[in-house]
Amino acid sequence: MTEPKEIAKGTFSDLTTYEKWVRGEGIPIYTGFFVEDLRTLAVEPWERKGGLGAFINLEGTGQTNDAYVCEIPPGGSLKPQRQLFEELIYVLSGRGATTVWHEGGKKLTLEWQAGSLFSPPLNTWHQHLNGQGDQPARYVAVTTAPTMINLIHNLDFIFANPYQFTDRFSGDKDFFSGDGVSYEGRVWDTNFVADVTNFKLSTWEARGAGGSNVMFELANNTMAAHISEFPVGTYKKAHRHGPGAHVFIISGNGYSLLWPEGKEMVHVDWHVGSVFVPPERWFHQHFNSGAQPARYLALRWGSRKYRRGEELARGRDVTTAGKSETSVKLGGDQLEYEDEDPRILQTFKDACAKSGAEVRMDRFFHKK
Ligand SMILES: [Fe+2]
Repeated sequence: MTEPKEIAKGTFSDLTTYEKWVRGEGIPIYTGFFVEDLRTLAVEPWERKGGLGAFINLEGTGQTNDAYVCEIPPGGSLKPQRQLFEELIYVLSGRGATTVWHEGGKKLTLEWQAGSLFSPPLNTWHQHLNGQGDQPARYVAVTTAPTMINLIHNLDFIFANPYQFTDRFSGDKDFFSGDGVSYEGRVWDTNFVADVTNFKLSTWEARGAGGSNVMFELANNTMAAHISEFPVGTYKKAHRHGPGAHVFIISGNGYSLLWPEGKEMVHVDWHVGSVFVPPERWFHQHFNSGAQPARYLALRWGSRKYRRGEELARGRDVTTAGKSETSVKLGGDQLEYEDEDPRILQTFKDACAKSGAEVRMDRFFHKK
């Protein structure tokens, strides 16, 4: 029997490979349950990008995905990038353009503005430029970096990989035209949404309170997106699901409650520019206590084209709509209005009284 050898110093670590990478990038890292305003969040020079940036590593991601903010100085452009993780980009302010290409292939340019949503296809080269000389442009991206970096734990493979995913991006000149294919009127398969703030939504009865919604499949990603809107004086039903759904408020004022079953609630006040992520299997419920419709953009796991499996395990058997739209009493993950703690409605009425908004929840509680 040979003597055990001493393990080299630094072999073991309490940090994941992703956490080490993030710490080494030299920009601020924001943690917790939410960020109040991404538009004004402090950012610092980010060598890798050639602009300014900050990481957002919220509790509710379970380190399955992450977000970062990046700012392009007035009249400037970022360095060309490619990386082996998906990236959904939502433009917070300014306007500009992004050029996308495969090594040696034709370059394709799309123009964006505040409110635009798009995704450089996986591992394509892409370069962002600010189209205005007098003010910065800022975007936020949700990425699959934690999953990919932790599994591969080799940054060269992630950031200097020559493989071209032609199944995700063929170089077709109409790739970012904004045209899409609609499934059942509520899911759009597209690669560019010019303005999520004004995109036309479809009604969605299942989550309650006269809400409307539309979902997006972008750039053949495994991540997906949706927009939801709910009227003045209303709130949605509580529900729960897996980690990593980044909720960006794009209009209105209100608050959300997040809680693990039977435990204390976390209260998050929000307005345009806020982001939060409900942790895995925590109930969460969104309240519009302001004077105008509330709309949010969710960037998350859950493509319907490219399933990861978790959604199927939880969503398949109760109804075709899936467990997140089915009452907990029927084995689903949604709390119906009549089953919720009466204090939820009372707190909402108090919040509306403060802002002067009229409560319009009665008809949802007395539905036959
Ligand atoms: Fe949710």
